[in-house]
Amino acid sequence: MGNAQDLMRETIKRIVPYSPGKSSAEVMAELGIERVTKLASNENPLGPSPLAVQAMRELAEGVFVYPDPECRELTAGLAARMEVPEETVVVGRGSDEIIHMLGLGFVNEGDNLVFAAPPFAMYPITARLMGAEERVIPQRDFRHDLDAMADAVDEKTKLIFISNPYNPLGTIVTADEVERFMDRMPETCIVAWDEAYVEYADDPAFPDTLRYVREGRRCAVLRTFSKAWALAGLRVGYGAMPEDIAIVLKQVREPFNVDIMAQAAAIASLKDPEQLARSVANNNAGKDYLYAQFEAMGLEYIPTQSNFVMVDVGMDSVECFDLLMRQGVTVRTGEIFGLPSWLRVTIGLPEDNARFIEALRAVLGKQ
Ligand SMILES: Cc1ncc(COP(=O)(O)O)c(C=O)c1O
Repeated sequence: MGNAQDLMRETIKRIVPYSPGKSSAEVMAELGIERVTKLASNENPLGPSPLAVQAMRELAEGVFVYPDPECRELTAGLAARMEVPEETVVVGRGSDEIIHMLGLGFVNEGDNLVFAAPPFAMYPITARLMGAEERVIPQRDFRHDLDAMADAVDEKTKLIFISNPYNPLGTIVTADEVERFMDRMPETCIVAWDEAYVEYADDPAFPDTLRYVREGRRCAVLRTFSKAWALAGLRVGYGAMPEDIAIVLKQVREPFNVDIMAQAAAIASLKDPEQLARSVANNNAGKDYLYAQFEAMGLEYIPTQSNFVMVDVGMDSVECFDLLMRQGVTVRTGEIFGLPSWLRVTIGLPEDNARFIEALRAVLGKQ
C-alpha cells in the first residue's frame, strides 16, 4: 500500500504546517530550568476578565449541551460594540477561522490572493488550501505597500489580506491611505482588514474600516478575543462584513464552530471594558519601557501599534533566540520574516519585560 500522501489534494502539498515554536514546558524540560517567560506568541499575560473566568466556572457542569450555533448573544454584543447591524457579524473559532471561511466561501482554484511579505501565516495557508495563486507584495519601510498591492489586483483577485496593525512589524496603514486604496478596488474582490491588534492601536490616523462595512463595500473587518481580551486559548474571533458576504461565510461555517465556554467568556468580557483598559495600559507602559531600554542599548526598533515590538539585535536572530532561551526567555526570530538580525518580542507584564531585557543585555554583552 502506498503512502496516503500520494492521495493528497495537489493544491495542499505546498502548505507548510504552522510552526508554533517550542512550548514553555518543552523549553523547561530541555534546559532543566524552572521558569520560562514566553514572549513569542503575542499573548496577553495580564489574563482574561474575572467576569470571563467566573462565567466559565459557572458553566463548567453545563458543557454537555451543544453551544448556540448562531452565537446570538455574542453577536448582539459585538454588533452593539461595533455599531453595525447584527446580520453583518460572523463569529469564528478565532479570526483564523474567519480567514479560512473567506477562502472556502469565495476562492476558486486559479483565483489569486494578494497579501504582503512577511505575511501572517494564515494567508498563504488559505491560498494553498484553495489552490489559489499568491501575489505577495514585499513590505516597504516596514509597512504595507498599498499602492503596489492595488497594482497587483486583477479580475482573478478574490481576497486581499491586510493586517493592520501589521503582524509582525507593528506598523499601520492610515485612514487616508486606506481610503485611496478602497477607491481603487474593483467589485470583484474582497478586502479583509485583519485587525487582530486593533485595541492596542492609538495612532489617530488609524482607519475606521467599519465605516466601509456600514457602506456595504466589498470588505470584511476581522477581530479577535485572543489578544487584548486575553482569551487566545479559547479560540474566538469575529468579522464584520456586509450582509451578502456574511451569508456566504455562514454557508461554509461548521454548525457548532464556537464552543460554549468561548461564547460565555467572550460575552462576559464585553461587559468588562475596564479589564481591556488595563491590558492596554499595561501594554503602553511596557512599550515605553522597552523603547527606553532599546535606546539605552543603541538598538534600532520599529515603533509599534501592537502588543509586540521588532528590534534589531545586530546578530543572527536564531543564535540570539537560542541564547535567550537558555536564560528562560522565548521570542520570535526575525529570519522567518526576512529580517535575520531582528527579533519580535511580545510586550508582557513588567517583570516579563525586565527579564527579557536582562537576558538580552547578557546575550549582547551590554551590561
Ligand atoms: C494578524 C493576525 N491575524 C489573525 C490572528 C489570529 O488570531 P486568532 O485566530 O487567535 O483570533 C493573529 C494571531 O496571531 C494575527 O496575528
